[in-house]
Amino acid sequence: MQIYLSRPDITAKEIEAVCEVLRGPNLSLGPKLAEFEQAFAKYIGTKRAVAVNSGTSGLFLCMLALGIGPGDEVITTPFTFIASATAVMMAGARPVFVDIDPVSLNIDPANIEASITAKTKAILPVEVFGNPAGLDRLCEIAQKHNLAVVEDSCEALGSALNGKKVGTFGKISVFGFYPNKQITTGEGGMILTDDDYLADMCISLRNQGRGKDNGWLGHDRLGYNFRLSDINCALGIVQLSRIDQIKAKRRQVAKWYQEMLADEDRLTVPTEPDGCDMSWFVFVVRLTDGFSLEHRDRILQTMRHQNIQVSDYFPPVHLQPFMVEQFGYSQGDFPITEAVSKTTIALPFHNNLTKDEVAIVCKTLKEVLDKN
Ligand SMILES: Cc1ncc(COP(=O)(O)O)c(C=O)c1O
Repeated sequence: MQIYLSRPDITAKEIEAVCEVLRGPNLSLGPKLAEFEQAFAKYIGTKRAVAVNSGTSGLFLCMLALGIGPGDEVITTPFTFIASATAVMMAGARPVFVDIDPVSLNIDPANIEASITAKTKAILPVEVFGNPAGLDRLCEIAQKHNLAVVEDSCEALGSALNGKKVGTFGKISVFGFYPNKQITTGEGGMILTDDDYLADMCISLRNQGRGKDNGWLGHDRLGYNFRLSDINCALGIVQLSRIDQIKAKRRQVAKWYQEMLADEDRLTVPTEPDGCDMSWFVFVVRLTDGFSLEHRDRILQTMRHQNIQVSDYFPPVHLQPFMVEQFGYSQGDFPITEAVSKTTIALPFHNNLTKDEVAIVCKTLKEVLDKN
């Protein structure tokens, strides 16, 4: 029996909703697109929502809509999924990394000001693993320096900080719906903003640069095909309608892990930070001091051999080979990120993980730690 790292949670309602679209005439640019966008904007509390075919394309369109391009810099974190940085590079701008807070694992607001230059156009924070801690302080710094905040909220649908929902902190924000996320559309993403200009620009850019009044074969600007089909949107509408239930299921799984690993002093186990309503994306424990990278990797391998899927979220972005080649980064540039990254173990985590499965994971992990 495999215990999976992640699994989608698809009910008969989702299947029926997708089949209904398939039986109808509108597979794309039909009514489900507007319905999904409106439901999403309402849930987050922004004026506009623009659906796209991935979180990555959403972040890229944010850069273009904000006019960020060659010669510009965007401050972000090196402890994230690669797309937070590559979206900036796709627009021709430079990602400038700022090291993280060792507790929240988010970009450390205290380090940001030293990295702001005349070329800085935006700050792109990530709520890593669903944790929104530090966003408020980051936004204050951005405001002081008149910088746009592009919130990469791909991991944090449903999280809030001091009662304010993730996705409302930035001038523009992006969610992702890959199947390991809180809700999935298969592939997909959503851009959120209160700014009509930015939303309209994203709508044009996702649809081949088409304008509002220029017809199917009229193109106002260089655009892309980043549309999200009605099939995906129908799936997303039902998933979004279940978000409270999904959050509660994930919170329960996190609680089981916290309880079963409470006596384990070789691990730092994640908890919900003060002031945060956490929508758990993944459950990442960290080895305490005394374990090397080789240790950690051996632990991952042994767990996998015992049919328990685990992962090493995240290797530092700045040390990915193409980043080293392009920007000349090296070991030691972002020491907290590098130290944290060597110790992480993402455990199986999804809506329908059972208490028995969590118990097997915890028991196996403890046995593997004993042997290492
Ligand atoms: C922080 C972060 N940013 C961006 C993305 C990119 O989203 P997508 O895979 O939908 O392109 C992801 C997830 O995959 C992510 O975790």
